[in-house]
Amino acid sequence: MRFHERAGSYEANAAPQRRFAEALAAFAPFRAGSKLNELGAGTGFLTAALLAQGVQVHATDSSPAMVELGRKAVPAAKWSVHDAFGPVDPAPALASSGLLHWAADPAAVLRHWHDALPDQGRLLLGVPCDPCLCELRDLIGEGPVRWRDEAQWLALLRRARFDVRAHGVLESEEAYPSAIDFFRTLHRSGVTGAPRFGPAELRSLIKDYDRLHAGPRGVTATWAWLLVDATARP
Ligand SMILES: C[S@@+](CC[C@H](N)C(=O)[O-])C[C@H]1O[C@@H](n2cnc3c(N)ncnc32)[C@H](O)[C@@H]1O
Repeated sequence: MRFHERAGSYEANAAPQRRFAEALAAFAPFRAGSKLNELGAGTGFLTAALLAQGVQVHATDSSPAMVELGRKAVPAAKWSVHDAFGPVDPAPALASSGLLHWAADPAAVLRHWHDALPDQGRLLLGVPCDPCLCELRDLIGEGPVRWRDEAQWLALLRRARFDVRAHGVLESEEAYPSAIDFFRTLHRSGVTGAPRFGPAELRSLIKDYDRLHAGPRGVTATWAWLLVDATARP
């Protein structure tokens, strides 16, 4: 992931992430006046949606550039730089969208998040899951993240002592003018890992994507997000 490097172009290239974050907030709203800490807040898509519910949000991200942009975009939240993959500060509730799948060991991260919550404290979680970007993965193979399906994520949550109160997968088909626009959008949003392909291989992948996934609206890509409302059990 290259979120820190691409912070300045994230928002303009993260339409699905914005929609999923807004859907997550609407999926299991908090009571007005609730307080929570948000992890991996980026430029504040979920932050803004939670604030609109009257929630007091302490938004955190490991990228100082993201925090700077988030503070400007959503000044009503409190912002700070914080790594969410180690121990996190105690909080009455936690929320996160589009972060946990980047962890090398999400089970360990979930245990840290559980430890930060009181008994019955809520975790509102949005995480991409299979079949997200399946067309691309069919062409280039797995990576830079390990993809899990809904059942695998729910099993991880339960093992980390979360009771899942509600969950669902939102799937959408995104259209891009062409494969090169799709690849550029991913690159500019920071979701790409270290370069894996030389220029010739990349050109051939783009050509294949255009050939295999062209439709009347350009090329299409499947996006899928698991939405979870869970509580910590002792
Ligand atoms: C896909 S973006 C999602 C941002 C935002 N939640 C949204 O829905 O648009 C992932 C964010 O997680 C942040 N991030 C990555 N690793 C992190 C870590 N270890 N701790 C906290 N934030 C992290 C990145 O800087 C980036 O802002």
